[in-house]
Amino acid sequence: MTAVETKTVKNSTAKSLDPCTLIIFGANGDLTKRLLMPALYNLKAAGLLPNNFAIIGTGQKKMSDEVFRSLMTENLKQFATITFNTEIWQWFLERLYFVDSASKDINASNKLKECLITVDKKHKTGGNTLFYMAVPPAAVPSIVDELDKLDLIKQKNSSWHRLAIEKPFGHDRNSAKLLNKTLLQVADESQIFRMDHYLGKESVQNIMVFRFANGIFEPTWNNKYIDNIQITVAETLGVEERGAYYENNGALRDMIQNHLFQMLALTTMDAPARYDADSVRACKEKIFQSIRPYNEESIRSNVIRGQYTAGQIDHKSVAAYRDEPSVKKDSLTETYVALKVLIDNDRWSGVPIYLRTGKRLSKHVTNIAIEFKTDRLTDFGKPAITKLETNTLLLKIQPNEGICLQFAAKVPGEVLDMQMLAMDCEYADYFGKHTTNGYETLLYDCLLGDPMLFASADNVETNWGTVDPILKYWQNGTSDTLHLYKSGSSGPGAANALLERDGKKWRELGE
Ligand code: BG6
Repeated sequence: MTAVETKTVKNSTAKSLDPCTLIIFGANGDLTKRLLMPALYNLKAAGLLPNNFAIIGTGQKKMSDEVFRSLMTENLKQFATITFNTEIWQWFLERLYFVDSASKDINASNKLKECLITVDKKHKTGGNTLFYMAVPPAAVPSIVDELDKLDLIKQKNSSWHRLAIEKPFGHDRNSAKLLNKTLLQVADESQIFRMDHYLGKESVQNIMVFRFANGIFEPTWNNKYIDNIQITVAETLGVEERGAYYENNGALRDMIQNHLFQMLALTTMDAPARYDADSVRACKEKIFQSIRPYNEESIRSNVIRGQYTAGQIDHKSVAAYRDEPSVKKDSLTETYVALKVLIDNDRWSGVPIYLRTGKRLSKHVTNIAIEFKTDRLTDFGKPAITKLETNTLLLKIQPNEGICLQFAAKVPGEVLDMQMLAMDCEYADYFGKHTTNGYETLLYDCLLGDPMLFASADNVETNWGTVDPILKYWQNGTSDTLHLYKSGSSGPGAANALLERDGKKWRELGE
């Protein structure tokens, strides 16, 4: 598409951040090396980190500051999304520390506090501290308890103390409620940041702008014009080294309850009264509460789970899920879920929303397809139009970000033939390719204290409430409900039946 002369409307210039110490629990883990450190590096490269800043990593392994620094250097060289620059990295090296949390004696937990006091004094971080929990949900309560005992959570004087908690937030509704209760006993809601990195993705943030900063789409954004919505998150990756984590979670907990539900809410919610955390989170909560609850019958007909077997991805043989490290040979953990969601409100009543996510699929693609109704269309004297595809608006989340609108046009010639065309707009063509991973925005917002792009306590509890009956059903049921699919395919065939029954079909992956 040709670029039009555009005018940029700037709402804000970047706000400068307070001095601060960031403490990462789980600093030896995958998330820290793959996403958190590269994101911090990008923030520094963009000039957004304050000079009075320091990072204390903590984890189970024993290591000195020097070893931690060289490990982080190796990792960053491997996972940086922009060119490695020695000067920028030197800035980090002067601000990186490590405290091991392996030993359980009282001196060990005091070590963290002592380190924080020293680092705070040395780097003049003003007592401001962000505790980032890059650890499994079950480990969070004891860390929070320990921090509270060390008197590190209560905010004193003018300094702030914040807690960022990685997803999944809890394991089910009860554990999420308990976790919220534990956190809220020692901290105020304004200190808590429940992470969902999809909310930091540019193209996910853009859903609200696309819908509410343009006048032309919102009038059609309802059950009068929209036939169905399909949200797809397809991955080619398997569980990699995360078998132990994944065995306890599966795709429903890992992806649907958070990432896909958040995208669903942004796609279907009403316009918030104000662009702020309270308004946006309240609008999302209204949607979450309007999702029709699942019962045994609707789970049987509307939810499909699958697990990958061996196959080929990009011409390379890959192992079955059950042969991945730390996975049980008879595991029933789902690596794929497809489900039909119904929203019981005036705007969406009667519009099926289909969600699917899976690992080891043929394509790596995330998108939201809005399919419009065809029943009001003129048939031009012949049923040609019915043979065409429906008008589809595709919100492309990744790997290429953009918007694509499919519409019918007359094929030039003497007879009336029609064909679907695509108005395809890739953001990279307009704004250049950006190299962020979603964590930059979220870390920046945590450091700023802006909770808009984070889930509220209600949001996570309501969403667990929706998926809990499904988890229970699977737990009590037999392996019959688990559909095996070949790695490199588009998922289990049973997922097609979910839509065919409604007279619809999934979009091809990568279409
Ligand atoms: C994480 C899940 O939250 O999201 C992973 O735990 C998944 O299993 C990942 O692979 C997908 O994120 P992205 O940004 O690569 O689409």
